[in-house]
Amino acid sequence: MTDSFDRTIDYVRIAVTDRCNLRCFYCMPAEGILYEPKAHLLSYEEITRLLSVLGVLGFQKVRFTGGEPFLRKDFMQLLENTAGLEDYKSIHITSNGTLLQRHIPKLKELGISKINLSIDSLDKERFHKITRRDDFEKVMQTFHILIDNGFKIKLNAVIMKGINKQDIIPLAELAKDYPVDVRFIEEMPFNGGYKENVELYSARDIYSDLKAYYPNLIKLQSKHGDTASLLSVPGYKGNIGVIAAFSRTFCNTCNRLRISANGEIKSCLYDDGVFNIRDYMRSGVTDLELADKFREIIRLKPKDGFEAEKMRKDQKEAMKSMSSIGG
Ligand code: 5AD
Ligand code: SF4
Repeated sequence: MTDSFDRTIDYVRIAVTDRCNLRCFYCMPAEGILYEPKAHLLSYEEITRLLSVLGVLGFQKVRFTGGEPFLRKDFMQLLENTAGLEDYKSIHITSNGTLLQRHIPKLKELGISKINLSIDSLDKERFHKITRRDDFEKVMQTFHILIDNGFKIKLNAVIMKGINKQDIIPLAELAKDYPVDVRFIEEMPFNGGYKENVELYSARDIYSDLKAYYPNLIKLQSKHGDTASLLSVPGYKGNIGVIAAFSRTFCNTCNRLRISANGEIKSCLYDDGVFNIRDYMRSGVTDLELADKFREIIRLKPKDGFEAEKMRKDQKEAMKSMSSIGG
């Protein structure tokens, strides 16, 4: 499926829960957010149905996010169902890495090997300060087990002014010894109202820090739908990425749709939900009607994150927690 800007849309990100066991301050306030009651979440049957309709429309990639996806009961069952769908060449997961260790054998068995882990600091105390929980060692241990088992890992680090820019180089250095993509993300204002003004440490700032430390840093060609500018240090096993999530310089190659845990579709991260597909499904529509609805949503996908922001119905309401949006 292509949208009206000739972008091929073939990647869907589905948040399976809005709950999280961490409290990363760039994502939510210390007391958490108001979670959706269970009945408001898309059921696994509903998610599988949406995926199969999207598969018919040419979708090939799915990422499960949250909140923390492994918090939802029987998440492995959803993965198993999805692995049984023919259309999806790749199943991805974004996780905070605190709860997935015991599922590693089953993930391997299902052939699910692409996992993004969020790690914003390699300093235990700073990790605690950012996530407001004490899970640093568990997450690092999980990272090492995943690498040892051949998983393809990307690490996501949100870089915040005055908080963790000193972590950029130590995190990037992980790419020296491990085949991992270490990606630095600009902070976005989706923090559940924790703070109004985000003082940006920009992709440009991050790139300058990297370039100062690695004078021979090389820019790589990005792949279809990549949001990260990919960089490489000669001799390093992994790559480094910088994601201009707030500056939004990659919208012209966007290939994605998002579905929040409550069934709200976002055709752009910066819109405030364009349609509730859960309610539509529960009203008894057929698969053909669902497919038509997706076609219409894709056709109306905004040009970029700035357009989407302008079109919001309620500017304040849009400053949600990333945990309910799905990253
Ligand atoms: N700004 C930028 N990135 C964020 N994430 C969560 N909240 C924000 C925010 N406000 C990141 C998480 C995770 C990814 C899905 O989104 O760190 O790695
Ligand atoms: Fe949880 Fe991820 Fe939000 Fe942190 S950023 S609170 S790990 S959902």
